Amino acid sequence: MRAIDPDAVPTVLVGESEQRQALSVRPTLASQVARGEAQETVRETVERMRTVELTIAYGDKVAVNRVSLTVRSGEVLALIGPSGCGKTTLLRSLNRLVELTPGANRWGTITLDGADIYELEPTELRRRVTMVFQQPNPFPFSIFENVAYGLVEGGRRPKRGSELEQQVVTALKRAGLYEEVADDLGHPALRLSGGQQQRLCIARALAVEPEVLLLDEPCSALDPISTEKIEQLMHELAREIAVVVVTHNLQQAWRVADRVAFMYLGDLVECGPAREVLENPQAPRTRDYVRGLFG
Ligand SMILES: Nc1ncnc2c1ncn2[C@@H]1O[C@H](COP(=O)(O)OP(=O)(O)OP(=O)(O)O)[C@@H](O)[C@H]1O
Ligand SMILES: [Mg+2]
Repeated sequence: MRAIDPDAVPTVLVGESEQRQALSVRPTLASQVARGEAQETVRETVERMRTVELTIAYGDKVAVNRVSLTVRSGEVLALIGPSGCGKTTLLRSLNRLVELTPGANRWGTITLDGADIYELEPTELRRRVTMVFQQPNPFPFSIFENVAYGLVEGGRRPKRGSELEQQVVTALKRAGLYEEVADDLGHPALRLSGGQQQRLCIARALAVEPEVLLLDEPCSALDPISTEKIEQLMHELAREIAVVVVTHNLQQAWRVADRVAFMYLGDLVECGPAREVLENPQAPRTRDYVRGLFG
């Protein structure tokens, strides 16, 4: 079994030649071609979050069992594993959403830049570590108001309206949605397509300038074109911030992840560079899962 000591994972991603080699064995989707053309010879990663022996239980039911994991800027970390293995619980623990569930208990530590997240103010933590859910959940307001919401509610509203507008436009551009909606930012968000709604939710999450973006199966309700846009977006965002994505889709993990963590029944079974975990897993359970024997 591959060691799950968070320190065991290399801090520098693959070089260009290895990327090309990886592309030759991965499915040749446009997003990957774009990755290959990005000419990122070496992308350094920086640890932002760390869980140490993290256990989460709902009453007697242990959902996450002594998980030690790092989350780094400069990369996309994909959490994979069969239904009910604790992926969402682990993700929700990273910005303390899990504590809002009655009966949920936690053991072990979680840090953000070395500081215990339980020492941080929850609202500020959730600004720095934002989450996008499986089902797009825009508010029944306009596109503009949806993106401005986090800025206004979070007390980060700029003094001048033009500054707010600029921040909204910037977030929409980062989420890859601006060109499609630029003509009418007053358009009701609920009348956008599913893929546009999900990118709007990502724009809303990005408006507050998070340092870690958590995505829980963000493409599961989307068509292939919208999915590809969001995958491309994840890759671009990971240049600046840490991106953690839960996915059931192993092809998606192939396409977007730099590092993959495989969970099974609450355990972190294996974690390492995406190519190693997906192509040459060490643990029998990971092997069976990536070969489609269960899940
Ligand atoms: N609010 C809750 N109360 C009690 N048990 C819960 C709660 N949420 C999750 N669980 C249990 O914790 C375990 C892990 O659930 P979790 O949602 O984290 O799994 P998951 O890997 O995200 O699954 P899926 O792939 O189906 O989304 C499951 O056994 C689930 O039934
Ligand atoms: Mg889940």
